[in-house]
Amino acid sequence: MEKINVGLIGFGTVGTGVVRVVRENAGIIRDKLGAELVIKRVADKDLTRDRGIKLDEGVLTPDAREIINDPEISVVIELVGGTGIARDFIMEALSKGKHVVTANKALLSTHGREIFRKAGEAGLEVGFEASVGGGIPIIKALREGLVANKIDSIYGIINGTSNYILSKMTNEGGKFEDVLRRAQEKGYAEADPSYDVEGIDTAHKLAILIDLAYGTYISLNDIYTEGITRIDQLDIKFAREFGYRIKLLAIAKAVDGTVEARVHPTMVPAEHPLATVDGVYNAIHLRGNAVGSVMFYGLGAGMMPTASAVVADIVDICRDIKKKISGRISPLSYTEESVRDIKIKDISSLEIPYYLRFLVIDKPGALSKISGVLGAHNISISSVIQKDRKIGGAVPLVVVTHNALERELRNAIAEIEKLDIILDKVVYIRIEENLGAAN
Ligand code: HSE
Repeated sequence: MEKINVGLIGFGTVGTGVVRVVRENAGIIRDKLGAELVIKRVADKDLTRDRGIKLDEGVLTPDAREIINDPEISVVIELVGGTGIARDFIMEALSKGKHVVTANKALLSTHGREIFRKAGEAGLEVGFEASVGGGIPIIKALREGLVANKIDSIYGIINGTSNYILSKMTNEGGKFEDVLRRAQEKGYAEADPSYDVEGIDTAHKLAILIDLAYGTYISLNDIYTEGITRIDQLDIKFAREFGYRIKLLAIAKAVDGTVEARVHPTMVPAEHPLATVDGVYNAIHLRGNAVGSVMFYGLGAGMMPTASAVVADIVDICRDIKKKISGRISPLSYTEESVRDIKIKDISSLEIPYYLRFLVIDKPGALSKISGVLGAHNISISSVIQKDRKIGGAVPLVVVTHNALERELRNAIAEIEKLDIILDKVVYIRIEENLGAAN
């Protein structure tokens, strides 16, 4: 039987998973591919760490170039991460005529154009299914299954670590730091976990989804990005009272010739399917103008789910190698000539409902002072909660607004923070009511 050799650079959590999947599912892969998939070499700086899996003698090397320069290797799998040496490895592999598979969302969201162009010029493939949504085949869905659609909206929970933290805080009252440590121990978090909790990893993945949905290379600077580090137990509890759950959402929405592109904690109606996505699970809710609403759900991080996506790409490429074809589907699914810049809507012109929490001195007239400022900025109140009355003491006062302009909201908050009844910074969280429901 024909053998196809691949080389793996990066023998960390996902790399170990790739070796395991290829080994444990060798039979099914052989039956589907009609060839034997061989991981000929594995490169990693750390030659001694016990990964719970034994490679054959001579497979592991500290030198990635032994893979890139090996004429018998057809596909290079980059699982190093980051935008430094990983980029060099990919560009060199393409120069040497190797197809590439990567899970590197940071790299593709910043250097995707350069990498895809080089691959296209060389007639080579770049597989990146594992870059978004862990084991969920969302890249294939956007490139192929939904090819006939104009994408109206994308709402995604696409960072497993943040969702794990928010779920544990919501369901078990866990403390942020403790839960983050558990996510790190489980191998979900990025090397620098601030990427997870500050929304950066989510923005990287949203950039890739936007590129695929709208045929563009969006700049990360155009994605408004806010993480979960300021989410307080108090807001989680109030959200529940108003019938919401707080989720870190990646949002892309086509509105009047522009696209909203934003990542932030969001209050989601408790009955929406996205509100029930807990733990390290990811979900992407898409609305296409032909298909309507679709939702993809699965494990968004971790060794084996991510390896499942990496190996899917390898098999796809190996199938093309066998057929001696490549580039049947361009990386973004849009042809190179049709990829273009799109207009991104500025966050200041966003118009949605907001949750506001004020720490006020509980005395008569406090609410009317706040509502007066909001009213002057054209912001109308939909409901109010004030708990634990302590006359003359500090109490949280929570307001949910009707649709308001973010620009006006921020101006109103700046004014309110100057009032003598206000004791702390005002907390505000955006609310999404419809999430891709049919109009
Ligand atoms: N750190 C990422 C997450 C890994 O938590 O989702 C998967 O991309």
